[in-house]
Amino acid sequence: MPAIVLVGAQWGDEGKGKATDLLGSSVDYVVKFNGGNNAGHTVVIGDQKYALHLLPSGILTAGCTPVIANGVVVDLAVLIEELDGLEARGVDTSKLLISANAHVIPPYNRVLDKVTERFLGQRRLGTTGRGIGPTYADKMNRVGIRVQDLYDESILRQKVEAALEVKNQVLLKIYNRRAVAVEEVMEELMRHAERIRPMVTDTALVLNTAVDRGETVLFEAGQATLLDVDHGTYPFVTSSNATSGGACTGSGVAPTRIDRVIAILKAYSTRVGEGPFPTELHDADGDFLRETGAEFGTTTGRPRRCGWLDVVVGRYATRINGVTDFVITKLDVLTGLETIPVCVAYDVQGTRHDEMPVNQSDFHHAQPVYEELPGWTEDISGCRTFDDLPPNAQRYVLRVEELVGARVSAIGVGPGRTQTIQRHSLLGAD
Ligand code: GDP
Ligand code: IMO
Ligand code: MG
Repeated sequence: MPAIVLVGAQWGDEGKGKATDLLGSSVDYVVKFNGGNNAGHTVVIGDQKYALHLLPSGILTAGCTPVIANGVVVDLAVLIEELDGLEARGVDTSKLLISANAHVIPPYNRVLDKVTERFLGQRRLGTTGRGIGPTYADKMNRVGIRVQDLYDESILRQKVEAALEVKNQVLLKIYNRRAVAVEEVMEELMRHAERIRPMVTDTALVLNTAVDRGETVLFEAGQATLLDVDHGTYPFVTSSNATSGGACTGSGVAPTRIDRVIAILKAYSTRVGEGPFPTELHDADGDFLRETGAEFGTTTGRPRRCGWLDVVVGRYATRINGVTDFVITKLDVLTGLETIPVCVAYDVQGTRHDEMPVNQSDFHHAQPVYEELPGWTEDISGCRTFDDLPPNAQRYVLRVEELVGARVSAIGVGPGRTQTIQRHSLLGAD
């Protein structure tokens, strides 16, 4: 089963990092193909907790080659800091490969991300402020800076000068901020260039050759389906393709070579930042999910907005990503609830919608139609087989499976590596 894509089914933070880490030991390459250090993945191994932003979670598995592919936007300082932090904890990062075509987040885009948000005020998106949006915009505008540009100083200088000619006008005249000096940018970009030089390569060639050899390649999405710039709740999205199609454009491995798509679905819903969220709870149940599920951002520390599971979203994720397998995470967090509401449709001003409304405005006004499922009180964090789960927890999983339309192959019952129930192999042929 050589090429597998792993995506988030909801608004991010579903537990993609843990799932990637879990598969890590059976995988030869783990590839980050979209986003940048807006992502935050927490992986717990024994008593050690790791927070990863830019590096693929596979970096924690000895023997697995982590790859930052062309679709990623790279903040060099963050990359070096993350590598140093892991090395200091004894993690071998020497196998990391970085695409020569990946774009670099220059310092002025971090500034622009933050001032744009401030300028938007009430209409802000709630970005992570890492310069992600402006850097993808530069890529599309064909004024971006690629990793390979770092190794030709005169080309790099030309590109920085050209970019700053416009950016400085915007900073000065629209946002009333100070201009950024070319030298300042050059210095920051060049500072780390030599350090990463040995890692820079044609990652598309490496990955296609690996697939040719029958090696296992796992593509790990940052963000998630409803944050995808094409398929998410635009404009309240990130600026990349976080759905399975993004794995192809973001890595140079073609759709014909992808064998399986695994979607990570949290047993309830969360969202960070602004934008519509039909099942959001503003009451004690929301607080219960936030506290029990420790729903505070890995990247920004913001409390995550919490709500019940929305299977209209789940079904949408199945369709957009071509999901073959779901991993339901954080089922343990629902323990102790008498009944568990699951949103099965929306009511939009008297009209029932069983699928995502065509019109974004309808989604903003969607009222959830709930099906109530019976809860359980037994501690499930020690369960290791499906049969170990209390009958109502089993019922919850089976009903969700039926509603989202793809099989549930694994279930998370705690943050630890071993706290997972496997129903079907995520890598094998069954
Ligand atoms: P990602 O961005 O999709 O990788 O997810 P995050 O790491 O941002 O958020 C998921 C959080 O849930 C992390 O703190 C994980 O350690 C934790 N987690 C993952 N799976 C489970 C699970 O099954 N149960 C519990 N209780 N926590 C989990
Ligand atoms: P992981 O990979 C949750 C959200 C931000 C904001 C919007 C745009 O950990 O699941 P951006 O900085 O990307 O331009 O912000 O997207 N966002 C995330 N929310 N998890 C993430 O990543 C996110 N990455 C971006 O909060 O609403
Ligand atoms: Mg996260």
